[in-house]
Amino acid sequence: MSVSAASLNDVTVRRSGAAILDGVSLEIGEGERWAVLGPNGAGKSTLVRLLSARMHPTAGTVEILGERLGKVDIFELRPLIGLASQELADTVPVEESAENVVVTAGYGVVGRWREEYDEVDLERARTLLAAFGVGDLASRMFGTLSTGERKRVLAARALMTDPELLLLDEPAAGLDLGGRESLVRTLGRLAKDPATPVTVLVTHHVEEIPPGYTHVALLREGGVVAAGPIGETLTSQNLTRTFGLPLVAEQRGERFTARSLSLN
Ligand SMILES: Nc1ncnc2c1ncn2[C@@H]1O[C@H](COP(=O)(O)OP(=O)(O)OP(=O)(O)O)[C@@H](O)[C@H]1O
Ligand SMILES: [Mg+2]
Repeated sequence: MSVSAASLNDVTVRRSGAAILDGVSLEIGEGERWAVLGPNGAGKSTLVRLLSARMHPTAGTVEILGERLGKVDIFELRPLIGLASQELADTVPVEESAENVVVTAGYGVVGRWREEYDEVDLERARTLLAAFGVGDLASRMFGTLSTGERKRVLAARALMTDPELLLLDEPAAGLDLGGRESLVRTLGRLAKDPATPVTVLVTHHVEEIPPGYTHVALLREGGVVAAGPIGETLTSQNLTRTFGLPLVAEQRGERFTARSLSLN
């Protein structure tokens, strides 16, 4: 049994009287790479908010990197967690350079708040941008970048602090086919690197699960339909239950596809 990097025990999150997560239990072990799938509104981003110490559960317990939410100083915990999400993207000032968007992660802020950074930090930021194929955009204003370019910059930012937990909420949303395949390849390379932290990636499409991902969690209406090792969990039956329509999942090599079952 692997050591737990994050665990949720019977977690419920209630907002406006409704349970947006309802009795969710999940064990995420050291070295694991999880993909989280589910329909719009299933609670995927809420799960990411919990795992990034941006939200507390209404009931149940959340442990992240051995610390219990509610008992730990979240400002000590957050630097250990790399996060890329649309919510975070929305807080980035449009005039910020791509390089600064990445480097400021090391200072726990978005938006440049000092004029100078250590050269070693800037070097790391540029290396990460290059790893995500946007090295030549380092000095471009974030607001002038395309959707896909922003996604890559934010993924680079998530790794800047050398986190122990990496959370990617829809990193490939809005990317064209080439951009998606290129990002999936980069994330696949990361997944196979033992130095890469435990990763939780939210996506709407099984095609976006990078090679090397080990586990999957399927959410529907705030509950876990199935969670476990990818090979035995990402089945046609489980996807059908998750999305509420007949689906066929196929694995080819290390990639997955899903399509609706033709009824005629
Ligand atoms: N503060 C809030 N008050 C009321 N409802 C909320 C609140 N925050 C989230 N919700 C609801 O909780 C549900 C889950 O939201 P969440 O963002 O986790 O879904 P998701 O699975 O990430 O969806 P998507 O695929 O569209 O990103 C949604 O129905 C959302 O409207
Ligand atoms: Mg979401």
